[in-house]
Amino acid sequence: MKRILAGIQPSGDLHIGNYFGSIQKMIALQEKGEVFAFIANYHAMTSVDEGGRLARLTMQAATDFLALGIDPNRTTFWVQSDVKEVLELYWMLSSFTPMGLLERAHSYKDKVAKGIASNHSLFSYPVLMAADILLYDSASIPVGKDQIQHVEIARDIAVRFNNAYGNIFTLPEFDVDESVATIPGIDGAKMSKSYDNTINIFGEQKAQLAKIKKIVTDTTPLDEPKNFETCNIYAIAKLFLNTQELEALQERYRTPGEGYGHFKLYLAEVIWDYFAPYRERRAYYEAHSDEVREILHHGAHKAREIAGAKMEKLRTLTGLKY
Ligand code: ADP
Ligand code: TRP
Repeated sequence: MKRILAGIQPSGDLHIGNYFGSIQKMIALQEKGEVFAFIANYHAMTSVDEGGRLARLTMQAATDFLALGIDPNRTTFWVQSDVKEVLELYWMLSSFTPMGLLERAHSYKDKVAKGIASNHSLFSYPVLMAADILLYDSASIPVGKDQIQHVEIARDIAVRFNNAYGNIFTLPEFDVDESVATIPGIDGAKMSKSYDNTINIFGEQKAQLAKIKKIVTDTTPLDEPKNFETCNIYAIAKLFLNTQELEALQERYRTPGEGYGHFKLYLAEVIWDYFAPYRERRAYYEAHSDEVREILHHGAHKAREIAGAKMEKLRTLTGLKY
């Protein structure tokens, strides 16, 4: 069975853009293949430089993803830094990574252009990601569009390494869902933490309602029909409603008498109900953090067995074993 590898950046509160843009698909992939999923805490060190915060973000990501449907009985789920073999492979791969390959990386260039101080970990980020992928002979890598180039870099490095040492690495392919729409935020622009326009999946109901009340709309008065097609409330509601419910909502837009405030209250209720089962499971895992750690340790153990065997081969091939 082909192995699917998903890397999760522990980056804070998840929003519905993350959910419909990537998490939902990751969860569904568990039905289709052998999923390996890990929390990329080494990668997160490129943007987090406070230990307590990284530790908290790691547990938060684990709790959130278990709540949203990672099934530890089927999926191998671990924290990147619990399998240190990846760092040894990262070094081995570095000799097969031309500087130019990394200099062309959009993600690196974008970060530097944004004024983030350039440093070596930011620059070599794709090499560590290649190690993540190649260590487990991953065939398919579900990613967002922004990560396609990183998977291509991993493939490129694998080809170079294979040319030198024989076919030791499986060549990975990215799996991008072109049909996944960009989920709009409360202002209609792409929903993103960086734009402060998110609706979070978890958190207080009051905070969620406050965010939804801030959805930007036009100023059509109560007693006039409204256009759902251009409405940010409707664009978000569409993600959650079935055809019948959508038609009912369209009818409410067409019928004078209700305002955007009513539609916002309705949307808040719909979203709250939608995530209710996940919230319940999240509360369980939050109250049982030992169980979460146990799941992660078990996953790391499984991952380490594969990583260990692969590294044994690689140490022999490269002459580290003498
Ligand atoms: P953010 O922009 O909030 O920092 P991330 O870059 O951490 O989000 O995104 C994590 C994952 O969620 C990525 O796979 C990305 O493609 C997906 N994602 C984030 N925001 C959206 C969105 N608005 N629409 C669709 N997918 C999204
Ligand atoms: N760079 C990925 C992201 O920001 C996270 C990641 C790290 C990853 N290693 C990976 C994803 C390996 C897939 C495979 O989303």
